[in-house]
Amino acid sequence: MSNRYADTIQFWNKTFGEYILYNPTEKIMPELEKAVAWLAAGQSSVLDFGAGSGRFLLRCLDYGVGFVKGIDISESAVRVARQIATNYQLSDKTEFICGGIEELAKIEPNTFDSCVLSNIVDNLAPDDAEKLLAEIRRIVHPKGRVLLKFNPYIEKEKRMEYGFVELSANFYRETSGIFLYNLTNQQLEEMISVHFQIEQYKTVYYQQHDLINRLYYVLNKEK
Ligand SMILES: C[S@@+](CC[C@H](N)C(=O)[O-])C[C@H]1O[C@@H](n2cnc3c(N)ncnc32)[C@H](O)[C@@H]1O
Repeated sequence: MSNRYADTIQFWNKTFGEYILYNPTEKIMPELEKAVAWLAAGQSSVLDFGAGSGRFLLRCLDYGVGFVKGIDISESAVRVARQIATNYQLSDKTEFICGGIEELAKIEPNTFDSCVLSNIVDNLAPDDAEKLLAEIRRIVHPKGRVLLKFNPYIEKEKRMEYGFVELSANFYRETSGIFLYNLTNQQLEEMISVHFQIEQYKTVYYQQHDLINRLYYVLNKEK
Protein backbone atom coordinates (compact mmCIF):
# COMPACT_ATOMS: atom_id res chain seq x y z
CA MET A 1 0.00 0.00 0.00
CA SER A 2 1.22 3.48 -0.78
CA ASN A 3 1.55 5.92 2.07
CA ARG A 4 -1.48 8.01 0.98
CA TYR A 5 -3.02 6.91 4.30
CA ALA A 6 -0.02 7.85 6.45
CA ASP A 7 -1.93 10.68 8.20
CA THR A 8 -4.99 8.44 8.55
CA ILE A 9 -2.88 5.78 10.25
CA GLN A 10 -1.32 8.33 12.57
CA PHE A 11 -4.73 9.74 13.53
CA TRP A 12 -6.32 6.35 14.25
CA ASN A 13 -3.24 4.98 16.03
CA LYS A 14 -3.44 7.94 18.39
CA THR A 15 -7.21 7.56 18.84
CA PHE A 16 -7.10 3.83 19.52
CA GLY A 17 -3.90 4.18 21.53
CA GLU A 18 -5.97 6.07 24.12
CA TYR A 19 -8.94 3.75 23.80
CA ILE A 20 -10.74 2.36 26.80
CA LEU A 21 -11.63 -1.32 26.47
CA TYR A 22 -15.35 -2.14 26.23
CA ASN A 23 -17.58 -5.07 27.08
CA PRO A 24 -18.63 -6.73 23.77
CA THR A 25 -21.71 -8.33 25.35
CA GLU A 26 -23.22 -4.88 26.00
CA LYS A 27 -25.65 -3.68 23.35
CA ILE A 28 -24.80 -0.62 21.26
CA MET A 29 -27.15 2.23 20.20
CA PRO A 30 -30.62 0.77 19.43
CA GLU A 31 -30.57 1.74 15.71
CA LEU A 32 -27.14 0.16 15.31
CA GLU A 33 -28.00 -2.90 17.38
CA LYS A 34 -30.99 -3.46 15.05
CA ALA A 35 -28.66 -3.16 12.07
CA VAL A 36 -26.26 -5.71 13.59
CA ALA A 37 -29.18 -8.08 14.22
CA TRP A 38 -30.23 -7.81 10.56
CA LEU A 39 -26.65 -8.36 9.37
CA ALA A 40 -25.97 -11.31 11.65
CA ALA A 41 -29.25 -13.25 11.91
CA GLY A 42 -28.79 -16.76 10.53
CA GLN A 43 -25.34 -15.98 9.10
CA SER A 44 -22.15 -17.93 9.83
CA SER A 45 -19.46 -15.42 8.92
CA VAL A 46 -19.10 -11.65 8.85
CA LEU A 47 -16.28 -9.49 7.46
CA ASP A 48 -15.65 -5.91 8.60
CA PHE A 49 -13.26 -3.67 6.67
CA GLY A 50 -12.14 -0.62 8.67
CA ALA A 51 -13.24 -2.58 11.72
CA GLY A 52 -11.72 -0.26 14.32
CA SER A 53 -11.95 -1.87 17.76
CA GLY A 54 -14.29 -4.57 16.43
CA ARG A 55 -17.43 -3.22 18.13
CA PHE A 56 -19.82 -4.24 15.31
CA LEU A 57 -18.20 -7.59 14.69
CA LEU A 58 -18.11 -8.69 18.29
CA ARG A 59 -21.81 -7.81 18.63
CA CYS A 60 -22.48 -10.17 15.68
CA LEU A 61 -21.24 -13.10 17.78
CA ASP A 62 -24.16 -12.57 20.19
CA TYR A 63 -26.54 -13.28 17.29
CA GLY A 64 -25.00 -16.69 16.61
CA VAL A 65 -22.39 -15.83 13.96
CA GLY A 66 -19.60 -18.44 14.12
CA PHE A 67 -16.66 -16.48 12.72
CA VAL A 68 -15.84 -12.81 12.23
CA LYS A 69 -12.86 -11.20 10.54
CA GLY A 70 -11.83 -7.57 10.91
CA ILE A 71 -9.29 -5.67 8.84
CA ASP A 72 -7.98 -2.26 9.84
CA ILE A 73 -5.04 -0.14 8.79
CA SER A 74 -4.39 1.03 12.37
CA GLU A 75 -2.19 -1.28 14.46
CA SER A 76 -3.63 0.24 17.62
CA ALA A 77 -7.20 -0.53 16.55
CA VAL A 78 -6.26 -4.13 15.79
CA ARG A 79 -4.47 -4.43 19.13
CA VAL A 80 -7.59 -3.21 20.99
CA ALA A 81 -9.89 -5.57 19.06
CA ARG A 82 -7.62 -8.56 19.74
CA GLN A 83 -7.31 -7.65 23.41
CA ILE A 84 -11.09 -7.52 23.85
CA ALA A 85 -11.51 -10.82 22.01
CA THR A 86 -8.91 -12.38 24.32
CA ASN A 87 -10.45 -10.90 27.49
CA TYR A 88 -13.87 -12.33 26.60
CA GLN A 89 -12.61 -15.74 25.35
CA LEU A 90 -13.66 -14.95 21.77
CA SER A 91 -10.30 -15.47 20.06
CA ASP A 92 -11.30 -18.78 18.45
CA LYS A 93 -14.20 -17.07 16.64
CA THR A 94 -12.36 -13.93 15.60
CA GLU A 95 -9.49 -12.80 13.41
CA PHE A 96 -8.26 -9.21 13.39
CA ILE A 97 -5.56 -8.24 10.94
CA CYS A 98 -3.74 -5.03 10.22
CA GLY A 99 -3.81 -3.85 6.60
CA GLY A 100 -5.54 -1.93 3.86
CA ILE A 101 -7.43 -2.80 0.71
CA GLU A 102 -4.64 -5.06 -0.54
CA GLU A 103 -5.62 -7.56 2.20
CA LEU A 104 -8.95 -8.15 0.46
CA ALA A 105 -7.23 -9.57 -2.64
CA LYS A 106 -6.05 -12.49 -0.44
CA ILE A 107 -9.64 -13.57 0.29
CA GLU A 108 -11.30 -16.11 -2.04
CA PRO A 109 -14.56 -15.18 -3.82
CA ASN A 110 -17.83 -15.95 -1.93
CA THR A 111 -16.08 -16.45 1.42
CA PHE A 112 -18.32 -14.40 3.72
CA ASP A 113 -22.08 -14.39 4.35
CA SER A 114 -22.20 -10.73 5.40
CA CYS A 115 -20.08 -7.62 5.60
CA VAL A 116 -20.09 -4.34 7.48
CA LEU A 117 -18.45 -1.15 6.18
CA SER A 118 -19.01 1.44 8.87
CA ASN A 119 -17.59 4.93 8.35
CA ILE A 120 -14.90 3.67 6.03
CA VAL A 121 -16.06 3.96 2.38
CA ASP A 122 -16.28 7.75 2.73
CA ASN A 123 -12.94 7.97 4.55
CA LEU A 124 -11.09 6.53 1.53
CA ALA A 125 -9.83 8.11 -1.66
CA PRO A 126 -12.54 7.82 -4.38
CA ASP A 127 -10.67 5.14 -6.38
CA ASP A 128 -10.19 3.03 -3.24
CA ALA A 129 -13.84 3.50 -2.22
CA GLU A 130 -14.91 2.04 -5.56
CA LYS A 131 -12.32 -0.74 -5.34
CA LEU A 132 -13.52 -1.61 -1.83
CA LEU A 133 -17.15 -2.01 -2.92
CA ALA A 134 -16.11 -4.17 -5.90
CA GLU A 135 -13.98 -6.38 -3.64
CA ILE A 136 -16.81 -6.80 -1.13
CA ARG A 137 -19.15 -7.87 -3.92
CA ARG A 138 -16.59 -10.51 -4.95
CA ILE A 139 -15.94 -11.76 -1.41
CA VAL A 140 -19.53 -11.86 -0.09
CA HIS A 141 -21.98 -14.57 -1.26
CA PRO A 142 -24.53 -13.52 -3.88
CA LYS A 143 -27.54 -12.01 -2.02
CA GLY A 144 -25.34 -11.73 1.10
CA ARG A 145 -26.13 -8.88 3.48
CA VAL A 146 -23.96 -5.79 3.59
CA LEU A 147 -24.38 -2.91 6.01
CA LEU A 148 -23.01 0.44 4.85
CA LYS A 149 -22.72 3.39 7.22
CA PHE A 150 -21.69 6.86 6.12
CA ASN A 151 -20.88 10.21 7.65
CA PRO A 152 -23.36 13.01 6.98
CA TYR A 153 -23.06 15.05 3.80
CA ILE A 154 -21.20 18.26 4.72
CA GLU A 155 -22.46 21.43 3.00
CA LYS A 156 -20.04 24.07 1.65
CA GLU A 157 -20.52 26.50 4.54
CA LYS A 158 -19.54 23.84 7.09
CA ARG A 159 -16.64 22.64 4.97
CA MET A 160 -15.24 26.17 5.04
CA GLU A 161 -15.88 26.52 8.76
CA TYR A 162 -14.14 23.17 9.46
CA GLY A 163 -11.18 24.06 7.22
CA PHE A 164 -11.52 21.11 4.82
CA VAL A 165 -9.03 21.14 1.93
CA GLU A 166 -10.44 20.03 -1.42
CA LEU A 167 -8.16 17.44 -3.07
CA SER A 168 -10.43 16.56 -6.03
CA ALA A 169 -14.17 16.58 -6.81
CA ASN A 170 -16.08 15.80 -3.56
CA PHE A 171 -12.87 14.65 -1.90
CA TYR A 172 -11.41 16.52 1.10
CA ARG A 173 -8.68 16.33 3.70
CA GLU A 174 -9.91 17.27 7.16
CA THR A 175 -7.68 19.23 9.56
CA SER A 176 -7.09 15.96 11.47
CA GLY A 177 -5.44 14.57 8.30
CA ILE A 178 -8.19 12.03 7.58
CA PHE A 179 -10.06 12.00 4.26
CA LEU A 180 -13.73 12.67 3.55
CA TYR A 181 -15.29 11.54 0.29
CA ASN A 182 -18.30 13.80 0.69
CA LEU A 183 -21.20 12.42 -1.35
CA THR A 184 -24.91 13.32 -1.33
CA ASN A 185 -27.45 10.52 -0.85
CA GLN A 186 -28.04 10.44 -4.59
CA GLN A 187 -24.32 10.08 -5.33
CA LEU A 188 -23.95 7.41 -2.65
CA GLU A 189 -26.90 5.47 -4.02
CA GLU A 190 -25.46 5.57 -7.54
CA MET A 191 -22.14 4.23 -6.27
CA ILE A 192 -23.75 1.55 -4.09
CA SER A 193 -26.16 0.38 -6.81
CA VAL A 194 -23.32 -0.70 -9.11
CA HIS A 195 -22.76 -3.71 -6.84
CA PHE A 196 -25.65 -3.94 -4.39
CA GLN A 197 -29.40 -3.81 -4.19
CA ILE A 198 -30.55 -1.25 -1.63
CA GLU A 199 -33.11 -2.74 0.78
CA GLN A 200 -33.51 0.04 3.35
CA TYR A 201 -32.19 3.50 4.19
CA LYS A 202 -32.11 4.80 7.76
CA THR A 203 -30.48 7.58 9.69
CA VAL A 204 -28.87 7.38 13.11
CA TYR A 205 -28.71 10.49 15.28
CA TYR A 206 -25.64 11.09 17.48
CA GLN A 207 -26.85 13.49 20.16
CA GLN A 208 -23.37 14.21 21.55
CA HIS A 209 -22.18 15.48 18.15
CA ASP A 210 -25.61 16.68 16.90
CA LEU A 211 -25.17 14.89 13.60
CA ILE A 212 -26.63 12.00 11.72
CA ASN A 213 -25.04 9.01 10.05
CA ARG A 214 -26.57 7.40 6.99
CA LEU A 215 -27.23 3.67 7.04
CA TYR A 216 -27.90 1.50 4.00
CA TYR A 217 -29.01 -2.10 4.35
CA VAL A 218 -28.07 -3.71 1.02
CA LEU A 219 -27.93 -7.15 -0.63
CA ASN A 220 -25.08 -8.33 -2.81
CA LYS A 221 -25.90 -8.58 -6.50
CA GLU A 222 -25.29 -11.78 -8.48
CA LYS A 223 -21.81 -11.85 -10.01
C1 LIG B 1 -14.38 6.08 11.61
S1 LIG B 1 -13.44 4.68 12.09
C2 LIG B 1 -14.72 3.44 12.04
C3 LIG B 1 -14.41 2.24 12.90
C4 LIG B 1 -15.55 1.22 12.93
N1 LIG B 1 -15.84 0.72 11.60
C5 LIG B 1 -16.79 1.81 13.58
O1 LIG B 1 -17.73 2.16 12.87
O2 LIG B 1 -16.80 1.93 14.81
C6 LIG B 1 -12.54 4.33 10.59
C7 LIG B 1 -11.63 3.12 10.71
O3 LIG B 1 -11.17 2.79 9.41
C8 LIG B 1 -9.79 2.54 9.45
N2 LIG B 1 -9.22 2.88 8.15
C9 LIG B 1 -9.09 4.11 7.59
N3 LIG B 1 -8.53 4.02 6.38
C10 LIG B 1 -8.31 2.70 6.14
C11 LIG B 1 -7.77 1.97 5.04
N4 LIG B 1 -7.31 2.58 3.96
N5 LIG B 1 -7.71 0.63 5.14
C12 LIG B 1 -8.18 -0.01 6.25
N6 LIG B 1 -8.69 0.63 7.32
C13 LIG B 1 -8.77 1.97 7.27
C14 LIG B 1 -9.27 3.42 10.58
O4 LIG B 1 -8.05 2.95 11.11
C15 LIG B 1 -10.43 3.36 11.57
O5 LIG B 1 -10.29 2.31 12.48
